Amino acid sequence: MKILVTGGTGYIGSHTAVSLIENGYGVVIVDNLSNSKESVVDKIREITGVKPVFYNADLLDKETLGAIVKREKPQSVIHFAGLKAVGESVAVPLKYYGNNVVGTINLLEAMAENGVGDFVFSSSATVYGKPASVPIREDFPLSATNPYGATKLMIEGILRDVHAADNTMNIAVLRYFNPVGAHKSGLIGENPNGIPNNLVPYMMQVAAEKLDFLRVFGDDYGTKDGTGVRDYIHVTDLAEGHVLALKKLEKKPGMVVYNLGTGIGYSVLEMIGTFSSVLGRDLPYKIVERRPGDIDECYADTALAEREIGFKAKKSLRDMFEDGWNFQLKN
Ligand code: NAD
Ligand code: WQD
Repeated sequence: MKILVTGGTGYIGSHTAVSLIENGYGVVIVDNLSNSKESVVDKIREITGVKPVFYNADLLDKETLGAIVKREKPQSVIHFAGLKAVGESVAVPLKYYGNNVVGTINLLEAMAENGVGDFVFSSSATVYGKPASVPIREDFPLSATNPYGATKLMIEGILRDVHAADNTMNIAVLRYFNPVGAHKSGLIGENPNGIPNNLVPYMMQVAAEKLDFLRVFGDDYGTKDGTGVRDYIHVTDLAEGHVLALKKLEKKPGMVVYNLGTGIGYSVLEMIGTFSSVLGRDLPYKIVERRPGDIDECYADTALAEREIGFKAKKSLRDMFEDGWNFQLKN
């Protein structure tokens, strides 16, 4: 069975391509390389022994996209391609609405024209806005706090409407919490351009002495030690979640929405403690002001995904840091 993976040379897409191949699926990647490198295709081959088909194409190029879907006739599509930097989305919102929303509409149209009916979408815990309580269940109220989050919310709404209009379309919306870590080979992982915005990539660069110290954004939150609490999930666990979601779609369930997280919240200070123990030295940090827009706590209620698709994250926080650090050292 052939799966079209948009954004498949990116961070989560490349790990999912590996899991798909290991589970016997054929993989066709479409990526415009705006935030990844074509060399990832060879790394996927090195890990799995199978080289995915690769198209360097932009979802905004409707004609080329339509031709690819027509030629490949995939059974399902997993849609990772999108822009994801929250701060940049505030500065250049139209770029985000154009790329993420229009790109998704083009993809759905190409699927409809070619009779492809199974769709898995990369959504985010950001759609819960500032949750009233934790752990967060899928039926909690949704809201957006920045244009990036608004694109995810809009796309989820578009998918609900598309499904209402055509209930032969099977859709899985996966809301990721905080993906971190890397494949244990160290061949693929997260390699952000410039100074990272996210916690773990920033910690990696401090440990590699490319940055002097970690700035801990506030220690006066209503959490166990005052620092922000998040649900970090190993990217290979997350990748496995996509295989389980595809298997669910093969049973034609209609539309489903699942959180993909571990259900465990770790504070920034706990993150520093675990990484320091993996490194065998203290990671330097300073407490600074809160980062605007941050929330106290965000972690998943994972019961629905466990019950309906058998998803349960297996890897520990230590695994996430060991594998992330291994990737950092090799790259
Ligand atoms: P990534 O940037 O590593 O991967 C996205 C890929 O999409 C990149 O390879 C990029 O080149 C490609 N792309 C972007 N726009 C495109 C377009 N118009 N046409 C073709 N290719 C295009 O990001 P990631 O971390 O792997 O995230 C994958 C998806 O998961 C994104 O939709 C993101 O919003 C979502 N997500 C990510 C996180 C996270 O923390 N990493 C959390 C929740 C949700
Ligand atoms: C985690 C914690 C920070 C950096 C973001 C997006 C979200 C989703 C995942 C895509 C917070 C603290 C961070 C630093 C710090 N992406 N921190 N120093 O904000 O939970 O979520 O990525 O969908 O949409 O908003 O992740 O890694 O930026 O922050 O103290 O240098 O680490 O305050 O408590 P976040 P993050």
